[in-house]
Amino acid sequence: MYEQEWGNQTIEMKRLPIGILGSGKGSNCRAILERIRSGELAAEPRLVVSDVLDAPILDLAREFGIANAYLPPGRFRTRLEPEVEEQLVQMLRAAGVELVVLAGFMRVLHEPMLKAFARRIINIHPSLLPKFPGLEAWKQALVAGETVTGCTVHYVDEQIDHGQILGQKEVKILPNDTAETLHARIQVVEHELYPSVIGQLCKRYGESS
Ligand code: GRF
Repeated sequence: MYEQEWGNQTIEMKRLPIGILGSGKGSNCRAILERIRSGELAAEPRLVVSDVLDAPILDLAREFGIANAYLPPGRFRTRLEPEVEEQLVQMLRAAGVELVVLAGFMRVLHEPMLKAFARRIINIHPSLLPKFPGLEAWKQALVAGETVTGCTVHYVDEQIDHGQILGQKEVKILPNDTAETLHARIQVVEHELYPSVIGQLCKRYGESS
């Protein structure tokens, strides 16, 4: 629990238990965990799960002393085997997770997760959705000749990089940008946007529970 000033009252609010899923380097995960550690974000990281055995995001969880697990994904390339997805639901439930945060998780979630955590799964995507869903969205924006792109945090639904938008931030595309320089600048902005949207959800869910 933590205390929040509300006018001249102090109310007790619950820290929102979150689970983070990622397949890669975990820079967004780091940004979130740092904000929690500094007290800026009223969430409680319960579990980090990866479908990649040696993903740096798992090292990061260990660095921050957070429970973590490798989940062998099964025989499919872009989704989890249905039984594995059920297992993921059980793991997150056992850890008491109330908000699932996708941070570079490279598999599409299906019914077991979407049903168990309805409107409780969020994702960050490196474009101004609905523009450029899918892979390497910053490259798509460059190729399309855009002058502005950005990043979006959204609820996850059954479609890829779709679902209600919770927050967006723009990033200008500079004339000499390469895919690498643009992606790097988008990531800097992601690291501000994601914790800030999670902070809003912590307030919303903390008050209602
Ligand atoms: C981010 O660019 C995010 O937008 C996308 O995957 C990337 C994850 O990066 N969904 P990281 O692992 O958080 O560094």
